[in-house]
Amino acid sequence: MTFEYADRINRLPPYLFAEIEKIIKEKKSQGIDLISLSIGDPDLPPPPFVIEALKQEVADLKSHNYSFSQGEPDFRQAVSEWYKKRFNVDVAHDQVVAVLGSKEGLANIARAFINPGDQVLVPDPAYPVYANGSTILCDGSAVPMPLLEENNFQPNFEAIDPKKAKMMFINYPNNPTAATVDKKFLKKAVDFAKEHNIILCYDNAYSEISFDGYQAPSILEIDGAMDVAVEFNSLSKTFNMTGDRIGFAVGNKHLVTGLTRVKSQIDSGPPVYTQKVAVKALASYNSREAPAFLKENNLILRERRDLLVDTLCKIGYQCDKPKATFYFWVNCRGDSMKFATRLLDAGVAVTPGVGFGKYGEGYARITFTQPKERIAEACQRIANAFN
Ligand SMILES: Cc1ncc(COP(=O)(O)O)c(C=O)c1O
Repeated sequence: MTFEYADRINRLPPYLFAEIEKIIKEKKSQGIDLISLSIGDPDLPPPPFVIEALKQEVADLKSHNYSFSQGEPDFRQAVSEWYKKRFNVDVAHDQVVAVLGSKEGLANIARAFINPGDQVLVPDPAYPVYANGSTILCDGSAVPMPLLEENNFQPNFEAIDPKKAKMMFINYPNNPTAATVDKKFLKKAVDFAKEHNIILCYDNAYSEISFDGYQAPSILEIDGAMDVAVEFNSLSKTFNMTGDRIGFAVGNKHLVTGLTRVKSQIDSGPPVYTQKVAVKALASYNSREAPAFLKENNLILRERRDLLVDTLCKIGYQCDKPKATFYFWVNCRGDSMKFATRLLDAGVAVTPGVGFGKYGEGYARITFTQPKERIAEACQRIANAFN
């Protein structure tokens, strides 16, 4: 028997990362020692206090019942306190919803607001969920906002026709370009969204992964943001907890309520024990300054970043080091698939930029989520491949 997929499934492009994982697995099964610098999943573990908290909370027999669709009150309180400490932003409990990682929230927010045919402005290149899991799976129409190097990988709002747009996704620190922004840009984004009545979904998943003194802002710090914006973040990158699936959406109450209403029909919130662990993890912040383990984490990433960028710089690629994320977006001066294939043949997997959208062509994303020795070995292989 064959059952036809719904049209919206047929409209989905292949999930790039799944394809890459398949190639890596195949190579590994052939005994090839491939160094994967392609997937954005940290190799570093969660801090020990998080693991201890997890053991404790899992053992609590009261932590295995359904949660609330909006999340546990303690969790929402902890998120609200974190916003105050980290960004000096006041958010009430009913402006917070717990999500199963920010990916789930980013996808489901469209279910609350997008009707078939509605336009959604999505950056290009971008994390694929905005166009696919969010827009296409709601039968919406994704309209790309090119992120060009000459505009510092920021969308040019003057070049966008906003008339039919209902929603817009923006993400900084950015995946895949690693670009960062200041509050002046965020103000422009908020003003644009307000002027044209567009829901602004701000993806701040990498807010805590930064180097050299840079601290990423929250869109909610901007005047007027609470009228139009909802921000998504999670413990995935900050606490190396990608598999624990715990995050939050925060901001405009009506937007948060819409997302909560969708979730109440689909899931019953993240497991209570992960929310309790998240409460303890977020409490490790005393101020806007990163807690000690995170500082250490970012120093390790910075050392790897320097190794990688210095190697690429020596062989003639760009030398500017990203201030945030664990990605290096290298201008490969040509076909990104050819560049990635050349490196794959040399034993290093990177992601061709075109996989993140048409405007990603000409670039490749290289992650530094491998131990320093492996990055050093990868650098050696890259240098050999280009000599
Ligand atoms: C830009 C961006 N947003 C969101 C996510 C989703 O993270 P999570 O669902 O683990 O919070 C990712 C994951 O790689 C990402 O790169």
